[in-house]
Amino acid sequence: MVENPVAIVLNNPYTIDDLTGGTLPGHLAIIMDGNGRWAKQQGKLRIFGHENGVKAVRQTVENCAKIGIDYLTLYAFSTENWKRPKLEVETLMKLLVASLKKELKTLNDNNIKLNAIGNIDALPARAGKELKEVIEKTSGNTAMTLTLALSYGAREEIKNAVQQISTKVKNNIISPENIDEAVINNHLYTHNLPDVDLLIRTSGERRISNFLLWQIAYAELYFIDVFWPDFNEHHLVEAIINYQNRERRFGKTSEQLI
Ligand code: FPP
Repeated sequence: MVENPVAIVLNNPYTIDDLTGGTLPGHLAIIMDGNGRWAKQQGKLRIFGHENGVKAVRQTVENCAKIGIDYLTLYAFSTENWKRPKLEVETLMKLLVASLKKELKTLNDNNIKLNAIGNIDALPARAGKELKEVIEKTSGNTAMTLTLALSYGAREEIKNAVQQISTKVKNNIISPENIDEAVINNHLYTHNLPDVDLLIRTSGERRISNFLLWQIAYAELYFIDVFWPDFNEHHLVEAIINYQNRERRFGKTSEQLI
């Protein structure tokens, strides 16, 4: 009988020590979803879910650094999230500022460099200032790059790139024949990041929601039925082991990979 892998995981949760070999995803991106539903399940306000979501962020960042992930990108606030109730948006921004203040030391202690993608100028002044400060103060760190996607939307990112390239064409800085994938890459917010290898989305939703559309072209997708505040080391390791058991062919045949 084929054993149920989910049952195995539940009976015998993986830990970081189980990652003894295999290729790690160089760039792991996460759509952190389900804070609101997690809170509602307990009869609490959505904000309670976000507060606990921050704890899961902290734990996941530390675990990724321990595992040796080079790039971790977290979808913290989308361009669409501005449409949420004012109080929720304000709380999320306050949580961001508080976390940045609190975690600067942890980032430096773990040699983690902070980076941000998205329309950072749209953030409240305080959040923008704090973010720029932490980015500056961690810029020399080399173990892992943690990128926060804030006021981020992939379509807007691509639209901006098209506008910038068009302006360069208009000003004869680049000719249309020379626009290749590298040129497009260089005009995205993520110009200094590699493509995504593994994309995890929590909460059971199976969508991409306007996240890194260009960069996930060959990413492995992993959806897990756990709300973000409950996402822990076991789920993270389980996702990485699942990734390691997939064959990434990049359009080639299995035989060509040998
Ligand atoms: C999705 O849950 C989560 C968000 C929109 C925000 C993610 C933010 C955090 C984890 C906290 C702040 C982050 C940092 C980096 C300090 P949801 O609200 O969409 O949940 P739902 O789908 O159940 O309503």
